[in-house]
Amino acid sequence: MDLIEYIDSKRESNLEELKELLRIPSVSTKSEHKPDIERAAAWVAEKLRAAGLENVEIAPTKMHPLVYGESLHALGKPTVLFYGHYDVQPAEPLDLWTSPPFEPAVRDGKLFGRGTADDKGQVHIHLKALEALKNTFGSLPINVKVMIEGEEEVGSVSLWDFVRQNRERLKADALIVSDTAMLSKGVPSITYGLRGLNYYQIEITGPAQDLHSGIFGGAVPNPITILAEVIAKLHDRNFHVAIPGFYDDVTVPSRQERKALNALPWKEKEFRKTVGAPALSGEAGFSIVEQLWVRPTLEVNGIWGGYTGEGAKTVIPSKAYAKISTRLVPDQDPAKIAKLVERHIRKLLPKTVRCKFELLSTGKPWVAPYTHPIFQKAIHALESGFGKKAVFIREGGSIPFVTQMYDTFKVPCVLIGFGLPDENAHAPDEHLLLENYFAGIKAIALFYQQLAAL
Ligand code: BES
Ligand code: MN
Ligand code: MN
Repeated sequence: MDLIEYIDSKRESNLEELKELLRIPSVSTKSEHKPDIERAAAWVAEKLRAAGLENVEIAPTKMHPLVYGESLHALGKPTVLFYGHYDVQPAEPLDLWTSPPFEPAVRDGKLFGRGTADDKGQVHIHLKALEALKNTFGSLPINVKVMIEGEEEVGSVSLWDFVRQNRERLKADALIVSDTAMLSKGVPSITYGLRGLNYYQIEITGPAQDLHSGIFGGAVPNPITILAEVIAKLHDRNFHVAIPGFYDDVTVPSRQERKALNALPWKEKEFRKTVGAPALSGEAGFSIVEQLWVRPTLEVNGIWGGYTGEGAKTVIPSKAYAKISTRLVPDQDPAKIAKLVERHIRKLLPKTVRCKFELLSTGKPWVAPYTHPIFQKAIHALESGFGKKAVFIREGGSIPFVTQMYDTFKVPCVLIGFGLPDENAHAPDEHLLLENYFAGIKAIALFYQQLAAL
């Protein structure tokens, strides 16, 4: 049996195995899921061993363990580091799922469940590609290091420590990641830029405790009103972020790059349909693709406080909260931006309230050239798997580890995504197109095989 025949013969069993992983609710942000995180890490470790990797280790960190394994027997051949994450976002709101988030189900050629696209399904593509190579040829054609972490969705907080302590072990000729999306269905894509992310939480306190709004209303500050006023001032009419200095270090892409990005087979109509809003809003002067990929943003992710239960309760709340994030592009510096954001918000606040400002996580933007010969190998492999030539895209999401690896080792980072923009990552009814899952295993197996000739 050759490699492709082998992969085809495993379609059903691979899919069943992926469902096992999807049934583990490894939600990294919630402490009640700690046992599930541990179970998912153990599951990944077991599959790494099955794929022929050695020195498999479940490395504890301050938060969630990461799983590492390696196979270093291809003398004189390149070494790649594959990175992914086994943790997932919370599944709430549960009532919006057509089938339960942790009971994977196939409908319409799509596999539904939390983590299908982000990132368990994509990690599994690599595990099965490695296993196929090992079982077809008896050993792996290149040297492979695999690192699957459990904190990506909470900002990869412990990863910095791990990389610092394992510099030698993580050294590789290239980083391979599948945690992004294809430009659209049928268009295999290689991502060469990601935005960075700073995540903040603010707590506004007015009165020392909740107050009767009849007895006190009219004379005391309402922290919710004040928070809403501040938030409303963070953008101007053109949807520019109205924080002084915010754009100071933003690199405007070259004319040539803007032209290339705007010429991609990206479909505005599909995008509008996926968004589903009556109309779009974005920073004036930039195309949608530019707004998404090369411009920084500020978003309010959540706002709460006061009474939100059934019926009426007349109260002036003591506190109001918001979760805010900024997406960053080269060459914005996350630490500098965090200072600017905090300083500006404090300046906008009246003296009637106190403010606690926290930076929950931070991550740098990334963009890199794709001239290294490894990208040609990726294009060829994707063409064999998908029957289409790949395009080079940037994306608006963030993967802290990519920046970190690039900064530390300056190695080529090959981001091959098998998700689709409308697959509801982080949202109800997340899914993965099975066609991409199966083609992905073939493409990645061929990619690893062809890297032997690099
Ligand atoms: N896989 C995504 C990142 C992503 C999504 C890249 C879409 C490109 C396109 C990753 O799991 C993710 O969700 N990252 C978080 C950042 C993290 C620090 C919480 C994000 O981008 O919000
Ligand atoms: Mn992801
Ligand atoms: Mn994610």
